[in-house]
Amino acid sequence: MKSYIVGNWKLNFTVGEASIYLHKLQKKIPNYRDIQVVVAPPLVALQPLSLQVDRHKLKLAGQNGFYRDFGAFTGETSFAQLRGLVDYCIIGHSERRYILREDDKMVQKKVAGCIRNKITPILCVGEIESERAFGETADVIRDQLLGGLRDVSEEDITKVIVAYEPVWAISGHGSAKLATPDEVAEVVALIRGILAELYGGEVAEGVPVLFGGSVNPSNAGAYLTVPQVNGLLVGGASLILGEFVDIIEVAKRVKS
Ligand code: PGA
Repeated sequence: MKSYIVGNWKLNFTVGEASIYLHKLQKKIPNYRDIQVVVAPPLVALQPLSLQVDRHKLKLAGQNGFYRDFGAFTGETSFAQLRGLVDYCIIGHSERRYILREDDKMVQKKVAGCIRNKITPILCVGEIESERAFGETADVIRDQLLGGLRDVSEEDITKVIVAYEPVWAISGHGSAKLATPDEVAEVVALIRGILAELYGGEVAEGVPVLFGGSVNPSNAGAYLTVPQVNGLLVGGASLILGEFVDIIEVAKRVKS
């Protein structure tokens, strides 16, 4: 399976800055066959960047979208509108769950909206610090996965990526703690087990599972060598071109 290195730019960069970054990134990276590089720019930059992107080298992702395709939904942008601009979309990121109050039902509809519009959802799941402290991690992950994947058929699960992001390990929010590779391994094994219950072992093995939470060039290798981890979702470090390129190079080394 390919490794995925996904840069989540969150609410950063003007359209001009995003365009300059993309230009430089494309100059720095070759066309990898076994690594899929993806960046998720802010919504306003997606249209111009979709004209600029070299899709042999990297793909674009949305950071969010609305679950209905068209209608009276002031301020929203649908997956039907994002279709053609992006190949992927981050869904259920913890910042949307906890700051924008998205629940599993909304996440479920957004996953379905992506699939309906031929966009690969990157479904984020992860526990907050108190849930881990109270031993609730497994229940939270199960609820978020079952919720998000409720409408996803056996055929469509092959078009989904799952990202495990412990909320307490995401920079800017949590405890400033890093997840250990063992902690990541345990939850990723749990995610694989739930996917296997839902879709059978063979199908489950084909679903890429990424890790995210304060990933940087020095810890990327440790996370990428956790069994059954197929890539990284990178926030803060993806804003610094040199660091993002270093993480991609670590992935390349781990692959070979
Ligand atoms: P971080 O963010 O790498 O800055 O911790 C990861 C994410 O929120 O996807």
